[in-house]
Amino acid sequence: MKVVQVEHGAGHYPVYVGQRLLSMSGIWERHLEGRVLVVSDETVAGHHLERMRPLLREYGRHRELILPPGESFKTIEQWSRVIDALVEMGAQRDATVIALGGGVVGDLAGFAAASYMRGIRVVQMPTTLLAQVDASVGGKTGVNHSSGKNLIGAFHQPAAVVADLDTLGTLGNRDYRAGMAEVVKYGAIRDPHLFSWLESNADALSSRLPDLLAESVYQSVRNKAEVVAADEREAGQRALLNFGHTFGHALETVTDYSQYRHGEAVAIGMVLAARMSELMGMTEIGTADRLARLLDQFGLPTRLPDDIQRRSLLRLMRLDKKNRADQIRLILLESIGRAVVRSCPADDILEVLNQS
Ligand SMILES: NC(=O)c1ccc[n+]([C@@H]2O[C@H](COP(=O)([O-])OP(=O)(O)OC[C@H]3O[C@@H](n4cnc5c(N)ncnc54)[C@H](O)[C@@H]3O)[C@@H](O)[C@H]2O)c1
Repeated sequence: MKVVQVEHGAGHYPVYVGQRLLSMSGIWERHLEGRVLVVSDETVAGHHLERMRPLLREYGRHRELILPPGESFKTIEQWSRVIDALVEMGAQRDATVIALGGGVVGDLAGFAAASYMRGIRVVQMPTTLLAQVDASVGGKTGVNHSSGKNLIGAFHQPAAVVADLDTLGTLGNRDYRAGMAEVVKYGAIRDPHLFSWLESNADALSSRLPDLLAESVYQSVRNKAEVVAADEREAGQRALLNFGHTFGHALETVTDYSQYRHGEAVAIGMVLAARMSELMGMTEIGTADRLARLLDQFGLPTRLPDDIQRRSLLRLMRLDKKNRADQIRLILLESIGRAVVRSCPADDILEVLNQS
């Protein structure tokens, strides 16, 4: 097991990365207090909750709440069910919420913990690669509103994050690959050594070799921890984590969130952002192709599909409030391992979109 300490304004918390962690009593003893509510979704609970049950039974004062799976249930109604469960079990300010699941459960249960009695403890137990390398670390919690994703939420740092790699064994290939896009992102924006390491080990990682998988989760968490420690509330360098996301979000929106996993849309978005960096003369020609080659090795898409209107994407990208009329703020690459925020002319963005 490896541990990354994440620093934040009010202290720090550990992220444990390793195998057999869900049933490791030492972690439980260190981090559980008061009554415990385990929140999970039907799919994850079916696969992994049983491994935690012996410890839960031993602990005693706990309850389980199993929600329907998927992004469409990251709602205020499901948040309300978590609050109801806490009220019904008589949870006090010393209670703990355990979020066992992907980013949806983590964000939703985390937000319930943030808001119940103005904040109780949450222990994140992420079970998707995306949640282990990204969503569970950094303290962003929230739910969707019918008019926008993550519109309601709060910063609420977990007491601990337990990334048990064994849970990834039941994850479908598409979700696994989508998580890999975020691992590649850390390499591209701030860790050239990680990027080269991924290039050398892409095939073994695609077949989920445990030691390599452990290393990629650990290195990703370390990178995310460094960024959020330097910028807890996203005032500066945390924005670099959005590399590929402005293009990606537009693509997810235009396809009604039904065609692409988030990581797949981000993969295409990162290549577009790298091409934009080349067009603006900021980075060496060939950088975007190198990035696309690595993403392709992980089975991720790297080009826009033909049937998407490029102008519709541009229109959506313009909606971001931070933009001025003819300029759009993007995260671009100076080189593999070095990213910056730049305002880009809309006409140049359209050119890149048209060439994809
Ligand atoms: N808080 C943050 O900083 C942050 C960062 C990135 C993404 N997010 C959020 O994360 C969410 C996406 O996360 P996600 O991709 O984990 O989605 P998810 O939680 O919906 O999980 C994807 C699917 O995989 C299933 N699943 C989860 N773990 C499994 C396992 N071990 N085996 C088999 N199936 C499993 C789930 O039931 C679900 O159907 C989005 O809502 C996004 O907004 C948050």
